[in-house]
This record gives sequence, C-alpha cells and structure tokens, in this order.
Amino acid sequence: MSAVLSRENLIRIAQEFGTPLYVYHAEKIKEQYEKLSSAFEGTNTVFFYACKALTNVNILRYIKSLGANVDCSSVNEVKLALHAGFPPQRILYTSNGIAFDEIEEAQNLGVIINIDSLSNLEKFGQKFGHSYPVGIRLRPNIMAGGNLKISTGHDKSKFGVPVDQIHLILDIVKKYNLRISDLHIHTGSEIKDVSVFLKGIEVLFDLVHHFKDLEFIDLGGGFKVPHKQDDVETDIHSLAKKIKQAFAAHPNAAGKTLQVWFEPGKFLVSECGYFITRVNVIKETAGACFVSVDSGFNHLIRPMFYDAYHHIENVSNPHGPEKKYSVVGNICETDTFAWDRMLKEVREGDYLVFYNAGAYGFEMSSNFNSRFKPAEVFVKDGNAQIIRKRDVFEDLLRNQIEVI
Ligand code: LLP
Repeated sequence: MSAVLSRENLIRIAQEFGTPLYVYHAEKIKEQYEKLSSAFEGTNTVFFYACKALTNVNILRYIKSLGANVDCSSVNEVKLALHAGFPPQRILYTSNGIAFDEIEEAQNLGVIINIDSLSNLEKFGQKFGHSYPVGIRLRPNIMAGGNLKISTGHDKSKFGVPVDQIHLILDIVKKYNLRISDLHIHTGSEIKDVSVFLKGIEVLFDLVHHFKDLEFIDLGGGFKVPHKQDDVETDIHSLAKKIKQAFAAHPNAAGKTLQVWFEPGKFLVSECGYFITRVNVIKETAGACFVSVDSGFNHLIRPMFYDAYHHIENVSNPHGPEKKYSVVGNICETDTFAWDRMLKEVREGDYLVFYNAGAYGFEMSSNFNSRFKPAEVFVKDGNAQIIRKRDVFEDLLRNQIEVI
C-alpha cells in the first residue's frame, strides 16, 4: 500500500495551519527512495537527490537520513546541503552558465563539481590543474523529457558541452592534466522511456577511453512519476536491469567498473507533496463555472508554465455530485490551474487539494501581487509539524531600502 495522507488528515492540517499550505509526507519520500534503492540493489549505483525540487532543510535532513546524497544547482544549494549536515563528499554541484568564482567557492567547500562549459573548464584547469577531480557535463544531443521547456539534452540546448566538441575538451584536459572523475548528462525531466538513458550511456561509453581517471558515469535525473490515474512511471526495474548489463560489459580504461550516479528530484518528492487551498469565490458564467482559490501561479506555477496536470480534489465534499469547473487563482492575470475539470460540487470555503505538489511547487513560488508565500508542513509518523512559517507583511519590505 502506497503511503498517502487521507482527506480527513489534510482537512485537519489545513484547519490547524491555515491555507494556502504545502504539506509533505515523509513516509512517501521513504517509499520512493526504497523503491529506487531496491530496484538498483546489486548494481554499483548512488543516488543524489536533486534538491532544486524542494530545498526545505528538514526535507534535506530527512533524505540524508534515508541514505541519499544530494545534487545542487547553485552554491547556495550547496550551502543549504552543508547546513543540513551532508558532508562535502556527498554533495554534487552541477553548475551551468555561472561565473567561475562560484565554482571556486564550491571547490573551496570541498564538494564534487561538474562543469558544463569549455570556458569554465579552461579556468578550472588554470587554477587547479590536476589537484582537484572534476566532472564534465556533456550535451548528448538526445531529445527527451515531458515537454520542450524541461528537455535539456537536445542539440539546441544550452546545457553541457556538446559531445561533438570532445576534441576541444580533450585539448583542455591534456593541457592542464585534468583529473576527470565523472562524465555527466541530464537529458530532461519526466522521461518515460528508459531507452533514453541507454542511449545516453552509449554516447558516454564511446568517450570513456579518453579519460583514464574516470570513476563515475552520472546520468542525471528525470524519472517520471504518475500525475493521474493510469499515468505511467519510469520503469526503474527495467532500467536497473539494463544498466547492470550495460555496465558489466564496459569497464573503464583502467579496468575498473564504473559507478553509476542518478540525480532524481521529482521521483523522490513529487508525490509526497499536497498543496491545500481554500475556495474564495464561485463565479457562474455562460462559458464556465470558475472556482477561485486563495492562491495562484505565484504559489504553484507548473500548470501555467508547463501546462502541467495536477490532480485536484475537493476534500470537503468527497461524496457530492460531479460538476465541471475551471479552477483559477486570485492573481491579476490569467492563472488557471485547471480548465473544464470535473470536481465534486464545490462550495465557497471548501478545501481543494492539489496532488504531486512536492517537486517544484513551493520551490518555484514567488511574492507576485505582494501575496505571502505559503507555509510548509512536514508529516512524519502521523505528526504534522510546521517547517516554514507563512510570510508576514514585514517579509515584503525586508530587503527594500526606503530612499524617498
Ligand atoms: N539533475 C539536473 C542536472 C537537473 O537539471 C535536474 C532538473 C535534475 C537532476 C532533476 O530532474 P527531475 O528528476 O526532478 O526530473 N521545474 C520543472 C522541472 C525542471 C527540472 C530542471 N532540472 C517542473 O516543474 O517540471
């Protein structure tokens, strides 16, 4: 049985902490992590949680306690991970498009570094030469992922050094005697088809012989989780099996078996998250019946930004008759969460819950319209605890400098 929070539970939590509210369920994160680790048992695989999905320090600590490492996309995420107690050798920093001084800062903190441009690789060589191992993020020129905005490995993508520039990489590696410890790719998010990972491995295997110090192959994140009934999840068992076969057949240049790394974000924290809102207004019109909740794309941007589907449930009226609604927010521009969605009859004051809200939900929220960011609650062993306060008015003025 999958770990879920019941409607009654969610209502109780909303009543206690108010709305809009993000709620995260520890046992679901654990379930997902155990699913991964058991599927890959017997393979030489390590998981780095892509914490860009959800960085609350309690989530980081909890995921650390499960045994995962952490993947960071900025030096600030690195500092949050250190603050959460991850030792530097369990922290991976995959930079993209950043100034070299941020890489120097990460090096100074002692974490594992992936570099994604020739320019920064050259600077790294000049500064550190052979003294500090480094990984290279490559662009494998593979199209993958749920939609173009979250596809990162194709031949028009800004990410990584294109594999066709391998000769330029090798010039730099040779010039500075760089110690290349890993090759990295991340081709996109919500990858259903495991053959994409296999294609990526083939691309990397062709390059392995160039790097005598290579120890790790980093295949990035991108495992898909279901968002609605009958939706698929990446078949991680099949992936694990295929990876095992592929890696057994490909020892690195020095004859060692390479370790595989993955950087799952959504897979670990998407389904653990519930976003609870309350209905402010119901507006019947000829074209649609609008349900306006006490939120908007300032709190959950995924539907407007990616056309992402989030299942919505009226937990206050689970047995009511079904009706068609457009669920919208209270922001000053179109902020539709769902068009023509069948919901159990909605009344003003009802709680509407958005599912799959753990990954890139709170994390991508903003104060647009000078609204407060939501609070966050962590539920573990049946205990609900607040882990981030809701903003208050002073937060809106905190960094402003009043000069007139
Ligand atoms: N590793 C790297 C280098 C990444 O850039 C990402 C995500 C991941 C791992 C984790 O990917 P995941 O397992 O979560 O799919 N905000 C978008 C998703 C953007 C993902 C960006 N990079 C969304 O809400 O769909």
